[in-house]
Amino acid sequence: MATATATIEAPAGEAAAATTDTVIRFRDITKTYYIGDITVPALRGVSLDIKRGELVAIMGPSGSGKSTLMNIIGCLDQPTSGDYALDGEQIGELGDDELAEIRNKKIGFVFQQFNLLARTNALEQVELPLVYAGVADRRERAQAALEAVGLGDRLDHKPTELSGGQQQRVAIARALVNDPAILLADEPTGALDTTTAGEIMAILQRLNREQNLTVILVTHEQEIAEYTKRIVHMRDGIISADEVVANQRLAQASAAAASE
Ligand SMILES: Nc1ncnc2c1ncn2[C@@H]1O[C@H](COP(=O)(O)OP(=O)(O)O)[C@@H](O)[C@H]1O
Ligand SMILES: [Mg+2]
Repeated sequence: MATATATIEAPAGEAAAATTDTVIRFRDITKTYYIGDITVPALRGVSLDIKRGELVAIMGPSGSGKSTLMNIIGCLDQPTSGDYALDGEQIGELGDDELAEIRNKKIGFVFQQFNLLARTNALEQVELPLVYAGVADRRERAQAALEAVGLGDRLDHKPTELSGGQQQRVAIARALVNDPAILLADEPTGALDTTTAGEIMAILQRLNREQNLTVILVTHEQEIAEYTKRIVHMRDGIISADEVVANQRLAQASAAAASE
């Protein structure tokens, strides 16, 4: 009987590859910075579950711990105490090299100031993470990622030859080309006008809807937060409220962006 049972079990490799439905699991996470004699409690006990396919906004006043939270989620920093499981894997037990590997594999980052290389064209910007990952069909994948954000006809354009919104779309393509589990965006629309911000949110909503991509973004604009499905409010290093967005705004890709 034991033998019969064993034969119908999934092979170990398959079981290990199975992903959990909860991509982010924080339990009583704290982060304390020490500057000389001064102690700064940036996070004071945060518990948070984010499931695959969620689209979440983090809001809160300056200094409330939003970036610290994002840095820990993105494995750029380790908590002082508490448990963090990313995609079912305990992060606290990992060393720097393992953390770097997890970052490359599982996380895509987008920043307010785009963080593109000045003299590098769009295609090469998006190929870079694939170079680090040692992927072979880099050009095809980078091109597909740029096409997915409506920039198929801007492959050889450098940042100075692109609008702010187009630069942010290159950054999104770069963040997604490795097929990460989560996209983390710290104020992704902070440097853009309202119309362009709406176009960026249209892309994030579409990726979330069509690819079930988990997106977590920081914003201080209520209007941007309403494009998401859930708003987590931070205050003084804790979550002060966690609300479902009742009437999610649907962002419109402009005619110009759609035809590009
Ligand atoms: N590297 C650091 N060293 C010392 N203190 C820090 C550091 N990063 C953030 N802090 C402090 O931690 C608190 C939370 O900061 P942060 O997470 O950047 O907030 P937010 O992104 O919401 O503005 C603030 O009091 C900030 O001054
Ligand atoms: Mg911040």
